[in-house]
Amino acid sequence: MIRLAIQKSGRLSEDSLNLIRECGISFVSSTYKLKTEATNFPLEILFLRDDDIPGYVQDGVADLGIVGQNVLVEAGFPALEVETLGFSKCRLSLAVLRNEAYSSVADLQGKNIATSYPQILGRYLAGEGVQAHLHTISGSVEIAPSIGLADAICDIVSSGSTLLGNGLREVETVFRSEAVLIANQSLPAEKQELLAQLQFRMQAVRRARR
Ligand code: PRP
Ligand code: MG
Ligand code: ZN
Repeated sequence: MIRLAIQKSGRLSEDSLNLIRECGISFVSSTYKLKTEATNFPLEILFLRDDDIPGYVQDGVADLGIVGQNVLVEAGFPALEVETLGFSKCRLSLAVLRNEAYSSVADLQGKNIATSYPQILGRYLAGEGVQAHLHTISGSVEIAPSIGLADAICDIVSSGSTLLGNGLREVETVFRSEAVLIANQSLPAEKQELLAQLQFRMQAVRRARR
């Protein structure tokens, strides 16, 4: 039996469940049950907060996970990635208030930036030679400029609706992301065999979709 962690609710949930089903794996899922077993493959599925998934896979609490590269890299475990999955594509971007003057990233020198991605953003700004004050908040980041909490934000953009709805303008792309399959790096041989079977099926699903 191999244990796979997926997002409980959010941008990746639907597509993660669809991918598993398209791999020919059957299971029953209900809203309040956070763990389920497949009926025709030795697979157990855990439904977790996406931010917790990289750490659980690193520690071996889960063998496998499906997460966005944004969450994986921010958590500091990029080496766990074994397969890109082609869905939940998004970007991590810097944004300022719509009417704010902005010509380049140098304009952010000394400014306050709200983000849930301090590691990725910190490295990006260091690379650009910009020093800013990063304020880490775990959600609703887009509200920060309009309530005077920050001069700029750095958060995930998919359709762009959340930026638009909060009077923000995207000014720089910091990181591009999509969903990936991750795996613990010291899986025993039987689990490595199950992982190989899953990867084979996932690759076939991707080819069939194209
Ligand atoms: C991201 C981000 C925005 C939204 C942007 O959240 O924080 O809320 O998606 O999408 P849009 O451009 O289509 O409006 P995410 O789904 O990553 O959820 P989380 O931050 O709660 O984990
Ligand atoms: Mg999250
Ligand atoms: Zn978010």
